[in-house]
Amino acid sequence: MNTDQPIIQIHDLYYRYEKENVLEDINLSIPSGAFLAVVGPNGSGKSTLLKLILGLLKVQTGEIKVFGEDINRFKERHLIGFVSQKANSFNTGFPATVYEVVASGLTKKVGLFKFLTSGDKQKVFEAIESVGLTKFINRNIGDLSGGQQQRVFIARALVSDPRLLILDEPTVGVDAQHVQSFYEMLEQLNKDLGITLLLVTHDIGTISNKVTHVACLNKHLYFHGNSHEFEHFQEHGVSEFYGYDVNLLTHEHHHHHEGVKR
Ligand SMILES: Nc1ncnc2c1ncn2[C@@H]1O[C@H](COP(=O)(O)OP(=O)(O)OP(=O)(O)O)[C@@H](O)[C@H]1O
Ligand SMILES: [Mg+2]
Repeated sequence: MNTDQPIIQIHDLYYRYEKENVLEDINLSIPSGAFLAVVGPNGSGKSTLLKLILGLLKVQTGEIKVFGEDINRFKERHLIGFVSQKANSFNTGFPATVYEVVASGLTKKVGLFKFLTSGDKQKVFEAIESVGLTKFINRNIGDLSGGQQQRVFIARALVSDPRLLILDEPTVGVDAQHVQSFYEMLEQLNKDLGITLLLVTHDIGTISNKVTHVACLNKHLYFHGNSHEFEHFQEHGVSEFYGYDVNLLTHEHHHHHEGVKR
């Protein structure tokens, strides 16, 4: 794989479910190794954009390239891991252990996880280790906290060795106290394993010192750039972008920016 080539390239993308566009004129490139946060109000098209990148929705107008390949021709699905916005509403009565849930991430490859090779099992252990859940490996998933369950789904997405991990609001159900360590875990996946991360979040304040890039979406891409450029944008453009939601973007490290709440 050519690591100089952007992982995702989006050109002139528009999308509509019905008459009205929910995405317009999107141009975005995600470099290999980036940790990109996509922020935007409810209904701004964030999940729609992810579904297009994942090939769950078909491109209508414009172009998406993944790993240099047009999305319509892209076959190597295992290179992309996904944790959906609804993963946290998982039925907690489901009788499966952490090990079994994570192993089920391999079933596309091996059919039934009963027949895992020792190499596959090793991958399952490593994925569980990388989200910090080794001591819960045999626990029923229903007996974990919401934040721990979310980590199980990340491990499940990691088990097939993705180069890109896409997460749609993974901290819903993670309390304020644990959000920080949750993002530290993501930062480790990005830095230590070199996995490119695409994260939809409302916690931009908490995360702005962890991500490498930020994209602000509200049908249009109002901003995208690296963290430094985002600081500048925060000082100048953000209140127009978020309106009353501007508080979401303030951060303990950015108290001197509170003047942006014009
Ligand atoms: N299947 C669908 N059919 C019709 N309209 C849809 C469908 N899915 C989403 N929409 C509409 O598209 C727009 C963008 O939705 P999307 O789910 O992408 O927003 P979002 O930014 O992820 O919002 P949230 O922060 O609430 O998750 C919304 O107006 C939504 O109502
Ligand atoms: Mg969404």
